[in-house]
Amino acid sequence: MTQRMIEITSPVFFPLPRDPQPGADLAALFPEKQPLVLEIGCGIGDFIVQLAARRPELNFLAIDIYNKGCFKTCNRVERAELSNVRVLRAEARYLLTHYLAPESLAAIYINCPDPWPKKRHRDRRLVRREFLQTALYYLRPGGDFYFSTDFQDYAEDVAALLPEMAGYVNVLDRPLVTELPGYPLSKYMRRFLQQGQPIHFIHYRRNPQLAPETIAPPAIDPGFRLNWRRVEHV
Ligand SMILES: C[S@@+](CC[C@H](N)C(=O)[O-])C[C@H]1O[C@@H](n2cnc3c(N)ncnc32)[C@H](O)[C@@H]1O
Repeated sequence: MTQRMIEITSPVFFPLPRDPQPGADLAALFPEKQPLVLEIGCGIGDFIVQLAARRPELNFLAIDIYNKGCFKTCNRVERAELSNVRVLRAEARYLLTHYLAPESLAAIYINCPDPWPKKRHRDRRLVRREFLQTALYYLRPGGDFYFSTDFQDYAEDVAALLPEMAGYVNVLDRPLVTELPGYPLSKYMRRFLQQGQPIHFIHYRRNPQLAPETIAPPAIDPGFRLNWRRVEHV
């Protein structure tokens, strides 16, 4: 079944420019020049609205590949009258590698990404070694990487990968926690918590001492969802 595309005319929504220029100034989408934060898979936007309201000194890009999710996020951002959030319909790896400059992000947030629970679908998960390497390249020194999931197996996989990767340092005293005080709850988090299921949180940071030349530019495999790009400009 194909879903009807909702036309998004919100002033906080920005279609990606057709000709990507790595490092093109997405920061220019915002009225204030402030550090840039990315939320990947913003869903209906409830997380970003809470976070952006608490952190007016930061600019937030909320992205999702889901047209209706972008629409709902825009409505929420407008209702909250936030000038520090912009919404893009974009695939995470595509946006990073085609539109952002290295070291341009103060933080990346990923909440309850699609878990792909079946073993044979694990390679469809967004957060794997290649992605973490890519994220490192776009985080500024000291930039934060937050990951949360209801899916324990996904959390354990990511928690096992990060310590193996030069360039990341754990901000927490454990690989995983089930409470992160002050962290806003997203729709999916709330749903799972109400069902009595814990949310697993990971918070790492790009090592501020890491020499930029030691980070390889991203070599992203074509991977699942990357041909999504074709529908982006409809
Ligand atoms: C399970 S939902 C979680 C939504 C929200 N983060 C929350 O916690 O309520 C995952 C979201 O990520 C989006 N998504 C999945 N893969 C993506 C990708 N590669 N790039 C951008 N968004 C993606 C989906 O469209 C969906 O809206």
